[in-house]
Amino acid sequence: MGTVELRGLKKSYGQVQIIHGIDLTVDPGEFLALVGPSGCGKSTLLRMVAGLETVSAGEIVFNGKVVNSLDPKQRNVAMVFQNYALYPHMSVRENISLNLRLSGVSKSEMERRVNDAARLLHIDAILDRRPSQLSGGQRQRVAMGRAIVRNPAVFLFDEPLSNLDAKLRVMMRAEIKALHQKVKTTSIYVTHDQIEAMTLADCIAVLNGGRIEQIGSPIELYNNPANKFVAGFIGSPAMNFIPGKVENSQAIVDRVSRGLPSVPLADIANGTSLEFGIRPEHLRLSDGEDGLPATVLQVDQTGSQTHVIADVLGSPVTVVLEGMVILNPDEKVKLSAKVDDIYLFTAGDGKAVGPRQHLG
Ligand SMILES: Nc1ncnc2c1ncn2[C@@H]1O[C@H](COP(=O)(O)OP(=O)(O)OP(=O)(O)O)[C@@H](O)[C@H]1O
Ligand SMILES: [Mg+2]
Repeated sequence: MGTVELRGLKKSYGQVQIIHGIDLTVDPGEFLALVGPSGCGKSTLLRMVAGLETVSAGEIVFNGKVVNSLDPKQRNVAMVFQNYALYPHMSVRENISLNLRLSGVSKSEMERRVNDAARLLHIDAILDRRPSQLSGGQRQRVAMGRAIVRNPAVFLFDEPLSNLDAKLRVMMRAEIKALHQKVKTTSIYVTHDQIEAMTLADCIAVLNGGRIEQIGSPIELYNNPANKFVAGFIGSPAMNFIPGKVENSQAIVDRVSRGLPSVPLADIANGTSLEFGIRPEHLRLSDGEDGLPATVLQVDQTGSQTHVIADVLGSPVTVVLEGMVILNPDEKVKLSAKVDDIYLFTAGDGKAVGPRQHLG
């Protein structure tokens, strides 16, 4: 197991800077998810850690040793890619053992490792098939097997499940989690699926435009996002934002009185523009006078929940209600939330403000 540290890591392609100075530590055995929108630099960062991409500035440190100048083989990392990168003309067994063969491991040792990995990944029965004779999920397992047999200090995953259908993705996600609990190899897992990150990772780093917005446990990011970007990225369906302002040292929503509970906010100047953030699962139907006036636009029943999209003051707002709630398009409702479930962000730079910042 290894510690991975990134110190002031930067990457430019020509004049264009892609990664703007990343500082990050992954502890031994930790599973870190790197999330962020498409093009934010996740793969670039991972490829630098793997040694597949040069570093423009900063250091990559494994177990206290700078590895910038080491080639991928010398770094003892194994990478699992989105497209699996299996050799079509080789059997599963040959694909899995290829790197071991090249590194000169004895035949008996190689057989033992391949068989162990195959058992762990439930692919013992398909070791003699070719990749073209496998399902997507089986190919994915073979790619994982190839990484595991090398017994690397660090696993690097770049969206390994994004080519699988939804059901298989959930299954493989559970398998990766179980696998990590067994082998406890330090892992960095790139995904733009925040549910995958939330369920798999001990720690999540949210990347945006080549910069880290926040690092923390899934629950920390969900409960205490540092800014509007993280708040909108972590949690599904995404958080709703409603414009507001500070008046008499209280945060209130614009254009409707008592639409949401006001939040005491003494340290921000009156008149400052804000955004209220409310998660879909924290909104409910209000039967009293208070609440945001809303018009139902769309209702989706999942069986266990009712997902509603409603128009609130001209903007769509998502509401997730427990159970089967009967609502119809064009129906007028009022939406309310508890004061403790309200997040506040400055309208300018999107920084989180207000009492939630002090809640656990
Ligand atoms: N070899 C390259 N030369 C020039 N620009 C590149 C190169 N590789 C990547 N980029 C640019 O760097 C940025 C980050 O790319 P990267 O592949 O790291 O994004 P990503 O976060 O992995 O996105 P996705 O979620 O779509 O995979 C993009 O703007 C991309 O166009
Ligand atoms: Mg990528």
